[in-house]
Amino acid sequence: MSYNIAVIEGHGIGPEVVAAAIKVLQTVGKTHGFDFTFKKVAAGGNAIDAFGVPLPEESVKACLDSDSVLLGAVGGPKWDTLPGHLRPEKALLGIRKELGLYANIRPARLLPELKDACPLKKEVADAGFDMIVVRELTGGMYFGESGRREGKHGPEAYDTECYSEMEIERIGVTAFELARTRSKKLISIDKANVLESSRLWREVMHRLAQRYPDVTLTDMLVDNAAMQLVRNPKQFDVAVTSNMFGDILTDEASQITGSIGLLPSASLGETKRGMYEPIHGSAPDIAGQDKANPIATILSCAMMLRMSFGQNEAAQEIEAAVSRVLAKGLRTADIAAPGEAALPCSAMTKAILEELK
Ligand code: IPM
Ligand code: MG
Repeated sequence: MSYNIAVIEGHGIGPEVVAAAIKVLQTVGKTHGFDFTFKKVAAGGNAIDAFGVPLPEESVKACLDSDSVLLGAVGGPKWDTLPGHLRPEKALLGIRKELGLYANIRPARLLPELKDACPLKKEVADAGFDMIVVRELTGGMYFGESGRREGKHGPEAYDTECYSEMEIERIGVTAFELARTRSKKLISIDKANVLESSRLWREVMHRLAQRYPDVTLTDMLVDNAAMQLVRNPKQFDVAVTSNMFGDILTDEASQITGSIGLLPSASLGETKRGMYEPIHGSAPDIAGQDKANPIATILSCAMMLRMSFGQNEAAQEIEAAVSRVLAKGLRTADIAAPGEAALPCSAMTKAILEELK
């Protein structure tokens, strides 16, 4: 078995963490009898520099031809002043849309080894948490009608939140199915007290709930959810929400796990092909210094093996290797306690590879 992976290294720490993750994939592939072909694809800043556009058609095609996409991080200060349609972020949105990746799966778990890195009250950290946010990824305000116009009081700008029943239903199915494999509790996060699109969201979720009598559905308003996440994160197991709310809440969820440098993500659609990437950005301040935490990208590869390729054992081995390395007290700078020695990215990767052998 050989898998074709489209690789978007991106910028900043992107190339470093991707290189680490590729080594991990190759290592588990060897022990489990499969291998990979990695094809570098230009998107984001690299593509803007080389071709003048963030997502060349060639790149979309390479992603569509792959078995899955591995992405490092795309943005950077160099392109921050470009107009909206030329920004690196457009590449990410374009791939999500073109590949039909409407379901973004973002696990946030406080590893017992990292309780001390959790910024919440000690009793909250001691209780731990283990949740998965299912974020809708190809609809809502990110893709709604937007523009500038002349308003009553001069120039104005608008972005619209629009969701079809179909879009809500398919992300709902993803979330209910996932909840079924876990604690059978699903929290749907919306702003139904104000937004019409959220009222439709809620209606569709409740209609779906009748098809999943074994899953308990609870609604939560997004402002309350933001507060509950830091008050009592343990109450969340699977949560489902819109593109915009999911973007905001997953940054919050990642921070309470100790470091955004740990969290992987998967973006999926109707086919087995997914895009896998760390939740963190390109961190230009530490780029090229061998300081990044490769764990989020490495764990994203575990998600790829499990969710796109059904290689559950290999996935589990990667996750176990990461846990063992952390249990030994090995830390990159982002998760090291003040005054504690921190490993460079390359040494952390080496430690994980050793565990896998
Ligand atoms: C994320 C990021 C992206 C998003 C940006 C880079 C466009 O913040 O994946 O969470 O907003 O979706
Ligand atoms: Mg985000």
